[in-house]
Amino acid sequence: MAIAETITDSQEFPAPANTFAETVTLVEHYTEELFRFRITRPASFRFRSGEFVMIGLPNAEKPVFRAYSIASPSWDDEIEFFSIKVADGPLTEHLQKIRPGDTVLMKKKPTGTLVNDALLPGKRLYMLSTGTGIAPFASLIRDPETYDKFDQVILTHTCRFAAELAYGENLVADMAEDPLVGELTAGRLTHYTSVTREPFPRPQRITDAITSGALFEELGVPALDPAHDRVMICGSMAMLADCKDICLQAGLNEGANNKPGEFVVERAFVD
Ligand code: A2P
Repeated sequence: MAIAETITDSQEFPAPANTFAETVTLVEHYTEELFRFRITRPASFRFRSGEFVMIGLPNAEKPVFRAYSIASPSWDDEIEFFSIKVADGPLTEHLQKIRPGDTVLMKKKPTGTLVNDALLPGKRLYMLSTGTGIAPFASLIRDPETYDKFDQVILTHTCRFAAELAYGENLVADMAEDPLVGELTAGRLTHYTSVTREPFPRPQRITDAITSGALFEELGVPALDPAHDRVMICGSMAMLADCKDICLQAGLNEGANNKPGEFVVERAFVD
């Protein structure tokens, strides 16, 4: 079946079983490659901050679904996603054209390992992200539970170009005004940005900032220590592998939902 050009002028098919059909409430484009959108939240949908869910469009009898991290916290009354736009991506080539009022399909069962439950309590929580890998952390940094469990939260976001940092920068700036988490996070959340393919004050990969010690020096904290530090990692496969190696070398053990540990890994899902 040919997939129609946009969902607004396509025939809408009924939502498959175990799927919610939700309405887009907001779309914001940042660059040629990045945008965020929000959809209504079904009353019965529960998830833990940091989890992902499968989403698709009602533009075919058998819609294409892709895993997307939920970028809004578990208390929010809407669901937010942060997405790349892939020209020939089976889902994102259509998804990037959505507008408020359109329908997005969301499978009913969220899951994932980038959740507070998969980590042992600690002093500092590092959230290491590249590109759209910031999405699950956008959820977790707005969840009061994160601050119940950790004294200090360090969100690192590395992108190729500075314009790609905008989503995270706006998010952190808006949090200061947020009535629920603004006061809680004041002085406890650090947003550490770096850019690798154009001049920038921190022109390096996060892996280099960790191995050189530049990250810890700037934060004024000791290097990674399994007694105090916890790490969540979300980015490309190569970034995950390199960050995981760093954690293992520092003596941190990988955690899971049924066995909390000192670090957890999840790939950033793309077409
Ligand atoms: P670089 O520009 O040096 O490749 P991508 O879009 O390829 O996922 O990259 C997003 C960001 O992640 C870029 O800044 C990129 O740096 C960085 N990156 C890519 N691979 C790794 C890796 N193995 N470890 C750490 N950072 C990485």
